[in-house]
Amino acid sequence: MRRKLAAGNWKMNGTNASLAEVQILTRNHPAPSVDLLICPPATLIVQAAALTADSPLEIGAQDCHAAAAGAHTGDISAVMLAEAGARAVILGHSERRQDHDESSALVSAKTQAAWASGLTAVVCLGETLAQREAAQTLDIIADQLDASLPDGATGTNTVIAYEPIWAIGTGLTPSTAQIAEVHDFLRRRLADRFGEDRADTIRLLYGGSVKPSNAMEIFATSNVDGALVGGASLKAADFSPIVKALEDCAATP
Ligand code: 13P
Repeated sequence: MRRKLAAGNWKMNGTNASLAEVQILTRNHPAPSVDLLICPPATLIVQAAALTADSPLEIGAQDCHAAAAGAHTGDISAVMLAEAGARAVILGHSERRQDHDESSALVSAKTQAAWASGLTAVVCLGETLAQREAAQTLDIIADQLDASLPDGATGTNTVIAYEPIWAIGTGLTPSTAQIAEVHDFLRRRLADRFGEDRADTIRLLYGGSVKPSNAMEIFATSNVDGALVGGASLKAADFSPIVKALEDCAATP
């Protein structure tokens, strides 16, 4: 059985004051029945990791460089993130693919670097609205999955997040049938490549305008093992009900 995962991506939001939200989450969820991950900006990782040292809530990062060290001004390596207290790193988010022109080949190299430092890679995939309207969604997802994931992917070192670009920060979400179509497809494609046993251990998150009001419906969808939440992860008052919905879903046979 895959343990469900509620993950928060704070993106470029959060200053020292935001650490209070992390503290509230540790209090709200002292013994969660699902895995919890918050990915604050890199500047807060050390403090957030210290605050959560005695909590099941884990801290992650939002990107890493593919190299362990070197002349890459402004970049941060997976080695450094692990040392700072991160346990996971989001890779290939559409905002990085778009803003920084990141290719799936680069995401794959970063995933290798994350694994080498013991970090779980949260590898993101997703189609644009134009691609969906042109009925290219599954082709795009297949290409991104194949090229972004190195051969060594397992349920321990890798999580996949399906984030349709048109659903991110827009309040729009795909229908549950559309989410199920992509997640079922991802599961089958992972099985074709890695075999069913290994594919069955890899968690598939949905991301894009997840809120307390739609979380339960999304979590009840086929092959959805949790969520990667942006805006609604910034406040514990929004994220905690999402965690609760995932726990309720995990408890439903
Ligand atoms: P929103 O939840 O704000 O739509 O963002 C989703 C996302 O991009 C998470 O990585």
